[in-house]
Amino acid sequence: MKLRDNARFDTICIHAGQVPDPSTGAIITPIYQTSTYVQEALGQHKGYEYARTQNPTRAALEGNIAAIENGRAAFAFASGMAAEGAVMTLLQSGDHVVVTDNTYGGTYRLFERVLRKYQLDFSYVDTSDISQIDAAIRPETKMLFLETPTNPVLRLTDLEAACGAAHARGVFVVVDNTFASPYVQRPIDFGADIVVHSTTKFLNGHSDSVGGVVVAVREDHVEWLRFIQNAEGAILGPMDAWLVLRGTKTLPIRMERHNANAQVLAEFLASHPKVTRVYYPGLPSHPQHALAKRQMRGFGGLVSFELGSLEKARTLLNSVRLMALAESLGGVETLISHPASMTHASVPPDRRQQIGITEDMVRISVGIEDVDDLREDLAQALDAV
Ligand SMILES: Cc1ncc(COP(=O)(O)O)c(C=O)c1O
Repeated sequence: MKLRDNARFDTICIHAGQVPDPSTGAIITPIYQTSTYVQEALGQHKGYEYARTQNPTRAALEGNIAAIENGRAAFAFASGMAAEGAVMTLLQSGDHVVVTDNTYGGTYRLFERVLRKYQLDFSYVDTSDISQIDAAIRPETKMLFLETPTNPVLRLTDLEAACGAAHARGVFVVVDNTFASPYVQRPIDFGADIVVHSTTKFLNGHSDSVGGVVVAVREDHVEWLRFIQNAEGAILGPMDAWLVLRGTKTLPIRMERHNANAQVLAEFLASHPKVTRVYYPGLPSHPQHALAKRQMRGFGGLVSFELGSLEKARTLLNSVRLMALAESLGGVETLISHPASMTHASVPPDRRQQIGITEDMVRISVGIEDVDDLREDLAQALDAV
């Protein structure tokens, strides 16, 4: 099981970072549920001293995701937010960050409620417009933090153009790739310096683990992230690392089905008389459909739509039977949610309005069930509206 340098994406997902367990030959990397490692003699060990610093299960996952995202190294954390927190320690007080304006609500909360206390400054701009990125960069700007597609309005940023604009001004680029997954897009291939994920979502894919990962390319970033992962210690535990490692093996076939099912539901919703607007990059009516075709492989598993009033959205959410009313996304089962009161409740109402998160908006994380069952469930729920 030696992975060749030219191995293709689906093969990388299954094999990268893993070798048969050296002590037994077990094909699946074991869950090394240990806090420490016995040393043969003073100063003599097998590369593992203490489990906050090194764990073989976590190392296998990190090697796997680094290869999947085409980065130099990856570091796994206890949650997506812990991963983002670690990335932000690359900055110092006085530094400024340009951020996609409708970034995930938890990211906004971290930046505004926590990191401002440490004299970091943030400007939120519509990064789908490269001139707004350019205009927001100033001498203290160190980082451009992008999310594409955004949650829940699925607006895209042209990664190649944004990375070009940032690098021309000496600014490094971080992309939260949670929503797309590396099957759909690999930001490092477009010039990004760092990719972060909530592995809780598509990478794990089975709604049974919370975690995060940072993938880096630059040697100085890799060195710092290795240091901070140990120094702050917000590591991913071995059981969760094992679950995510199991998840990434099926990422390509899951994403193919997520993409296909979401496309069918988006088209169904777009043709339904009770639906006033659909947001999905795979629809020709999406303003950035051409960019989506260029930058993404398929259009992802998230579909948002509007029904005209909060009351109608509430009726629909209370009428679905197969789809589960729940936060989160990226699992094999379909979840439906109300962004304004659920995932984006921590975003102030006026900001929500500014970035287009309306009260009548519903978001679906389309799972990999039989799409006919999903469509029928939506149809009967829409009948109740
Ligand atoms: C785009 C995005 N980034 C980051 C996070 C945070 O990840 P976690 O919940 O694993 O901390 C989420 C969670 O929903 C997310 O959707």
